[in-house]
Amino acid sequence: MAGLGRAFVLMAPALANPKIAIVACTDIRPEARSRFASEHCALAYASVEELCDDPQVEAVYVATPHQFHAEHVRIAARHGKHVLIEKPMALSDAECREMISEAANARVQLVVGHSHSFDLPVRRTRELIASGVFGALRMITAVNFTDFLYRPRRSEELRTESGGGVIFNQAPHQVDVARLLAGSRANSVRAITGAWDRARPTEGAYSCLLAFENGVFASLTYNGYAHFDTDEWMDWIAESGLPKNPAEYGAAQALLKNCKTHQQELVLKNARNYGGENAPATPPNSARWHQHFGVLIASCERADLRPMPNGVAIFGDDARSFDAIPRPAIPRAEVIDEFYDAVVCGVAPLHDGEWGRNTMGVCFAMLQSARSGQDILLDR
Ligand SMILES: NC(=O)c1ccc[n+]([C@@H]2O[C@H](COP(=O)([O-])OP(=O)(O)OC[C@H]3O[C@@H](n4cnc5c(N)ncnc54)[C@H](O)[C@@H]3O)[C@@H](O)[C@H]2O)c1
Repeated sequence: MAGLGRAFVLMAPALANPKIAIVACTDIRPEARSRFASEHCALAYASVEELCDDPQVEAVYVATPHQFHAEHVRIAARHGKHVLIEKPMALSDAECREMISEAANARVQLVVGHSHSFDLPVRRTRELIASGVFGALRMITAVNFTDFLYRPRRSEELRTESGGGVIFNQAPHQVDVARLLAGSRANSVRAITGAWDRARPTEGAYSCLLAFENGVFASLTYNGYAHFDTDEWMDWIAESGLPKNPAEYGAAQALLKNCKTHQQELVLKNARNYGGENAPATPPNSARWHQHFGVLIASCERADLRPMPNGVAIFGDDARSFDAIPRPAIPRAEVIDEFYDAVVCGVAPLHDGEWGRNTMGVCFAMLQSARSGQDILLDR
């Protein structure tokens, strides 16, 4: 495990998977390293290089900040380690291409995830579309309203050039989901972004229209400044699959009001992060439903399909029905399964380097479209 922050906390329940053994970690925060070492009876290293020098390590989950993704994948690949890299894959197309060739040269697997296209209800929706029962897919609608911009942040998370803002951080989820459901190549992108808070000067909101080669189009909307919370439309199940308490309205903004400087914000973030003194306890897996990324509707000729944390709601011509999915035994097991199948069984992963690069191609085009006011055509 490289990087023991929020992403690691979200992935941690998946580590109970008997397919894998956790042997070592690295993080620049000593408190995170020591908690990990004692919780997992594992080794803790001070750098990614040292972690990758350990011959026991076969594969590395890179969940470090965005600006380090390309470098950390390069280090891991050159040490012969397979890599699961968090989204966003990287900050430029050149970095994505370099990561793909580093992995290919080293003959190691590169899987890009987690993103919400791994979620079982999204995959089930894809199966329902592919069954043909509801006619052709025509349109995808994704809407997510959160308090993203007002959670405690590292200063680079608030600077687009360092990988900050919602295009790098959140759009890869919606783009991945839309690409998976559309099942076709994205042709063109038109986006408008919003950066509405001068104290947090990066994109906090966007709307994007994405056209696919097969005629499907997707509208993707994200508001990270939101007062409304789309989890209300997901039966108050949060992105993590855990129940959310609506009485905690405005909690992120209230907490942040006490921070006057970036340094104070970082202290607050670290205290609440893994290994920090105010880190929340990990809820039991039995409390979880499937994860999600807000409202998603796939409109087919004869039905609208709506993935929910507990299944897929089907609004057909004559009736509505519900395709229920049981609770996950292990959250994010789909991610570990895809990575394991690639590394151990040699099965080509769906979310390989080229998949991740294509998703980032759409995200880069969103930024370009917002700057230029133009449609951006995506090349092959
Ligand atoms: N898939 C998801 O649902 C999801 C959720 C959250 C974050 N993420 C992704 O995970 C990655 C990390 O984000 P986060 O929210 O966990 O950030 P975070 O700030 O909470 O955690 C980052 C961790 O990396 C450590 N770190 C920083 N520099 C390092 C270095 N050079 N070597 C080793 N460790 C280093 C930090 O100390 C911190 O513990 C990002 O790519 C982010 O987009 C994904």
